Amino acid sequence: MADAADTTESPSYPMPRTCPYAVPDGYRELRERPALAKVRLPSGKLAWAASRYEDVRAMLGDNRFSSDLRHPGFPLLMDHQVPAPEFSTSLVGMDPPEHTLARRAVAGDFTPRSVDRLRPRIQEIVDEYVDRLLDGPRPADLVDAFANPVPLLVICELIGVPFEDREFFLRISFTVMNATTPEAGARGMAELMGYMDKLVTDKEREPTDDVIGRLAARRGEPGVPDHRDLVAMAFMLLMAGHETPANIIGLGVMLLLDRPDLLKTLRDDPSRWPAAVNELLRYFTIAEIANSRVALADVELGGARIAAGEGILGLTVAANRDPERFADPDVFDIDRVEQRHLAFGYGVHQCLGQHLVRIELETALATLFARIPDLRLVEPVEKLRFKEEHVNYGLHALPVTW
Ligand code: HEM
Repeated sequence: MADAADTTESPSYPMPRTCPYAVPDGYRELRERPALAKVRLPSGKLAWAASRYEDVRAMLGDNRFSSDLRHPGFPLLMDHQVPAPEFSTSLVGMDPPEHTLARRAVAGDFTPRSVDRLRPRIQEIVDEYVDRLLDGPRPADLVDAFANPVPLLVICELIGVPFEDREFFLRISFTVMNATTPEAGARGMAELMGYMDKLVTDKEREPTDDVIGRLAARRGEPGVPDHRDLVAMAFMLLMAGHETPANIIGLGVMLLLDRPDLLKTLRDDPSRWPAAVNELLRYFTIAEIANSRVALADVELGGARIAAGEGILGLTVAANRDPERFADPDVFDIDRVEQRHLAFGYGVHQCLGQHLVRIELETALATLFARIPDLRLVEPVEKLRFKEEHVNYGLHALPVTW
């Protein structure tokens, strides 16, 4: 059984991808080790890394592993990354039983039936941005002109940003997410949090028909956030729900333009889009670092003993290409028999937005390819710039023309 002293050959994490479609070579090596190993984080600290499908699922399903980002043993990539209180107190950073109540309070808004009501509005948003793309210059950057704004506007619907504030909201969200200096980031963040505070205050005075407005109207019920936590939740939904779908839209368009055979299959039979979206989620598994935990007790997992207080990463990118679980895991196959991947995590924190995001991705991709049939890449895939340095995998830009 491996233990804490077994640190001699700890590979560095994150590991770079050598090809846009391949997962880092080091993941295979980690997966094939007889027992769980440790990796070295950019902070210099070590953390356990689960990489086999069964191990990652077992870890994420085990409440002895905590999501408390403020715990001193939590495997943050960098020490200075100590998360803002606005983020750590909202769902993602909570453990049961506190998490159970808080999640129950909001879960009703994210069921397949609830989010299905947003379908017509999502279609309108997508159509508007396809119109803008068609009216704009060629070539265009699909990330900037389509993949980024569409999910942001869907979040606006969800948290109820009034129509007249949307341009401001889009601008300030981009400032925060793309700030090049800590000062610019802090300034943008203060402005964004100020806006969220006002948004929540307005909804408390006059509740509106959206996730935040409905919660504001239920103040005092078990698990329903107070003012400060409601501001935190609006911010968390923006953070959790914007970049991730944007990344999949960009990567999905790239892959499909690179695979005309697949695109033809989808055009001939649009009922295959849900399967294609599910496979895109597995294949790219863009949000791996979200599955980090810290052990609250000694736990035996994957042939190792994780001591209480040690950090552990759930490497879902590796798990979703585990040949023990998925036949020919490196092949993009929309007819795959085993479809239950871990791209949305697993266990109590499994992505709350997953039904919404599937609608969003299906609508965005199907509409884009139907309305711009001769869409094509301007550069070969090898020349594109990927977010290697970010925690979520995606494209910086995707030049396209038609
Ligand atoms: C392709 C898009 C997305 C991916 C790959 C993704 C992935 C994930 C993952 C892996 C987790 C689990 C984190 C953990 O175990 O600690 C998670 C949680 C979460 N996601 Fe997503 N997500 C996506 C889109 C969204 C969207 C659009 C929203 C909201 C509108 C959203 C809201 C959330 C929330 C609130 C949680 C926390 C749930 C909890 O802690 O109980 N996600 N997501």
